[in-house]
Amino acid sequence: MAKIIGGITTSHIPAIGIAMDKGIEDTPYWKDFFAGYPPIREWLNKEQPDIAIVFYNDHGLEMFLDKKPTFAIGCAPQYENADEGWGIATIPPVTGETELSWHIINELVENDFDPTVCQDIKVDHGLTVPLSIMYPGRNYQHMKVIPVCINCERHPMPKPSRCFALGQAIGRAVESFEGDQKVVVFGTGGLSHQLDGERAGIINADFDIECMDKLVSDPEALTKYSIDDLVEIAGAQGVELNMWIAMRGCMLGDVEEVHRNYVAPISNTGAGTQLLLNK
Ligand code: DHB
Ligand code: FE
Repeated sequence: MAKIIGGITTSHIPAIGIAMDKGIEDTPYWKDFFAGYPPIREWLNKEQPDIAIVFYNDHGLEMFLDKKPTFAIGCAPQYENADEGWGIATIPPVTGETELSWHIINELVENDFDPTVCQDIKVDHGLTVPLSIMYPGRNYQHMKVIPVCINCERHPMPKPSRCFALGQAIGRAVESFEGDQKVVVFGTGGLSHQLDGERAGIINADFDIECMDKLVSDPEALTKYSIDDLVEIAGAQGVELNMWIAMRGCMLGDVEEVHRNYVAPISNTGAGTQLLLNK
């Protein structure tokens, strides 16, 4: 039985990748933000997970508004990145995973989720920035990654309750996979932010903290929100909370939070990170 050993949440702001490339992590603007990551890196180094399931959203590099799967999952041996226009460097390919990916795909379809199955996709900052921040120097290629993409850009978007259920279905699929792989699950993006329009720049730190609390103790409470609620309370891109909710669904049982950091604003975003372990 493959085993989920932990869940990690993190922002995916492109400026994080740029700051790491420039080596300015210790400057006043960034230091509190980057101080949140060494404990998670240490845990990853100690546990050495074989596979990372990464819930992310594609901001237009591969899936633009004209073709928008609600849920998509990769089953490729490798994922390329490309210039997506944020000024972040194009980075080395991410190593894929095929066997557990296909098992999850088969189990999802069997259990009434019907994701778009991707044998060839480019991955954007939504996936690459979280990996880069966990493995400085972009030293992530030993990790086999299963990308799970959730539409956060184009209405209609999946409800938080549906994303939680997707995570639960993936968590059960991992448990039913024959093998002894250690799996870590990433919920990326968020928290409150809006990048354009009249309310550009809004951040709701109280809501962000409440979400981080609820993610640990009462994730079902987060599934009560609608997409419209999230846009209203947390900004148009606050919908990226869905990836955190899906991650928490994967963990199935009770969890304990062993680490947390939250800084706002970072770029335009309430930037949180957590490490959750099953009790
Ligand atoms: C920012 C946040 C995002 O989620 C994103 O995809 C791009 C930029 C930001 O805060 O700058
Ligand atoms: Fe984003």
